[in-house]
Amino acid sequence: MKNNYLPIAKAFRLVQKIQQSQCSLSVVRKQMRFSSNVSQNEKSFFITTPIFYVNASPHIGHLYSAVIADCQSRYKQLREVRTKFSTGTDEHGLKIQQAAETAGEDPLLFCTNVSEKFRNLFNTCSISYTDYIRTTEPRHRVAVEHVWSVLRDKGLIYKGSYEGWYSTQDESFLTASQVGDGVDSSGQNVKISLESGHKVEWMKEDNYMFRLSTFRHQLLDWLEADRNAIRPERFYQAVVQWLQDDLPDLSVSRQKSRLQWGIPVPGDPNQTIYVWLDALVNYLTVAGYPGKHQQWWKFAHHVVGKDILKFHAIYWPAFLLGAGLPLPQTIHVHSHWTVNGKKMSKSIGNVIDPLERSNVFTTDGMRYFLLRQGVPDSDCDYKDDKVIKLLNAELADSLGGLLNRCTAPALNPAQVYPVFYPNYFPFEPTEQSRAISEDYHMLSAVGNLPSVVECYYEDMHVYKALEAINACVRQTNGFVQRHAPWKLSRQNIEEKHWQDTIIHVALECLRIYGLLLQPVVPQISNKLLSKLGVKPNERNWAALNFLPRFHGMECPFEGRILGTDTDVLFNRLERPSVKGPRPQKYTSKHA
Ligand code: ME8
Ligand code: MG
Repeated sequence: MKNNYLPIAKAFRLVQKIQQSQCSLSVVRKQMRFSSNVSQNEKSFFITTPIFYVNASPHIGHLYSAVIADCQSRYKQLREVRTKFSTGTDEHGLKIQQAAETAGEDPLLFCTNVSEKFRNLFNTCSISYTDYIRTTEPRHRVAVEHVWSVLRDKGLIYKGSYEGWYSTQDESFLTASQVGDGVDSSGQNVKISLESGHKVEWMKEDNYMFRLSTFRHQLLDWLEADRNAIRPERFYQAVVQWLQDDLPDLSVSRQKSRLQWGIPVPGDPNQTIYVWLDALVNYLTVAGYPGKHQQWWKFAHHVVGKDILKFHAIYWPAFLLGAGLPLPQTIHVHSHWTVNGKKMSKSIGNVIDPLERSNVFTTDGMRYFLLRQGVPDSDCDYKDDKVIKLLNAELADSLGGLLNRCTAPALNPAQVYPVFYPNYFPFEPTEQSRAISEDYHMLSAVGNLPSVVECYYEDMHVYKALEAINACVRQTNGFVQRHAPWKLSRQNIEEKHWQDTIIHVALECLRIYGLLLQPVVPQISNKLLSKLGVKPNERNWAALNFLPRFHGMECPFEGRILGTDTDVLFNRLERPSVKGPRPQKYTSKHA
C-alpha cells in the first residue's frame, strides 16, 4: 500500500506536540496542586477510610469509601511508595449502646459480629488494608487517654456544662439554626437535624468542654496556607465558610449515667469520652501513637464522606493542633450514593448490600462501577441496570473483546506476543508503511495515557482516569477493526508481518491498560496481564513504556508465549439474572 505519507507524518508530529503540551500542562497543574503538600515524590503514604459504625451492616456507601482508599493505596504501591492503609469500625457511643440494647446483646459481642461483617466485605472485595482498627481495642484506649491527658494538661479541656440539641444517629451537637421541624416514623412531630434529617433531642448536662473556639484563626490560617488540604475545592470552600462564624466550645464527654459504652475520662469515672473524640483518634492509634507514630503520621491522608466533613475538617485538626501534632496532608471528601433517587435507608428498604451485589456483578465489577460512576463532587444514583450496561459495554465488550480478538487461536495460532515490524508502522513514514494517520493518533493517545491517568489518580478523580482509559480502548478496537488482521493471509510474508505488527501494537495497548487498571480492578488486570505473559515484576509504574519497538528500542515481550488461560476476561451480565432493585427489606441481623 502506498501512502501519502508526508501529511501523515505531519499529523503525527502535530498530535504528539498537542498531546505533549496538554499533558505537560496538566502535569504542571498537578505539581501546583500538590506543591504545598507532601507531594507524590514522598516515599511514604498513609491513607485512611472512616471507621464505620457497627449499628448496622455495611452498604455500598461504605464499600465506596474503602474502594477509593484502596485504589489510591494500590496506585502508590505501583509507584513504589511505602504505604499504610487503615480501615475499621467505630464501636463506642450512645448509638451503639442503644443498638446493642435493642438487639438484647452484650455490647462487645454485638460490635464484634458487625465488625466482622465489614472485615469480611473488605476481604472479599480485595480491599488491601494493612491495618484494621476497632475502637474497643486496648491499644486504642491507650491512645485516646493519652490525647485527652495532653489536651487537659495544656488547659484545653475544662469542666463545664452543655445545653443544646444532640442527634444520637449522627452523634453530633447542633446549634438552633441547624435544627428544624420534622415527623418521625410514627407520625409524631419531632425536631430534626436540617443536614442529616435525623431526630435531635434537647440535652443538658455537666461535662467536659474542649476550647474549640480558640482554634478558629489557626484553622483558617491552615486552610489559607494549604488550598489543597481539603479536596475537592467545593468542600474546602464549605469549611472556610463555616469558619467565618464563631466556633462554640465543644462538649467532649457525657455523663456515665447516660453513656457507659465508651472510654472513661481519665481521672473522672463519672464521665465517658465523647465518641467523636474517641473515633478520630483511631488514625493516630494506627500510626503508632503515643509511641513511634512520626514515621507515618506526617504522611496521613483521609478519605471521608461529605456527611462527616465538619468532624474531620474542624474538630480533628483542632484536636491535633491542641495536642501539638501535625495536621493531615489531605482530606479527600466524596459525595453520596442514592438509590433510585432516594437516600438509602432501612425504613425505605432501599439499602444496597454490597456483598450480595458483588456475588452477581463480581467484586471487580462492583469496584469498577463504583469508581467509574462515582464522582467526588456530586451525589450519584445507584441502579442495577446501570451497572449491567456499564460493565457489559466497557469490561466485557470493549476491553474483553479486544483481548479476545488479539489472542484468539484463529488469529494467533502460535499463541505468542508477535514481532513488531517497524517498516509497516515506522516512526518516520516510508513507502512500505501501512499505518494511517488515525493509527498515529491512537499511538500518541496511548503513549500519553499513563501521565493523564497519573494526574487523575493523584487527584482521586478516578472516574476521569477510567474515562480516559476507556476512550483509548475504543481507539485500539477501532485500529484493529480498521486493519482487519483476520483478513490478512499468513502465507504471504508481507501480510503476515503486517498482521503481526497490528497484533503487537494491540497487545502493547492492552498491556498499558492492564497496568493502569490494577488499582481499580486487581483481579481482571491480573488475568489480562497474565494472558499477555507479563510477569509480576513487570507490572509497576516504571513498566509503562508503551511500544518500545516503535521508538527503536527492544521489547522484552516480543516473541513471548502467551498465558494459557482461555477464560473470557469478564462475562457479560444478563439482565434476568439480577433481582432488583431490591423489593425485599434490608436483612440485617440488627436492622
Ligand atoms: O460516620 N454514599 O460512620 P458511618 C457514600 N463512625 N458513602 C457513604 C454513604 C453513602 N450513601 N453512607 C455512608 C461514621 N458512607 C463514623 C465515622 S471516622 C473517625 C468516624 C460512607 O458508619 C462515607 O465515607 O456513618 C461516610 O462518611 C461514612 O460511610 C460514614 O459511615
Ligand atoms: Mg452515618
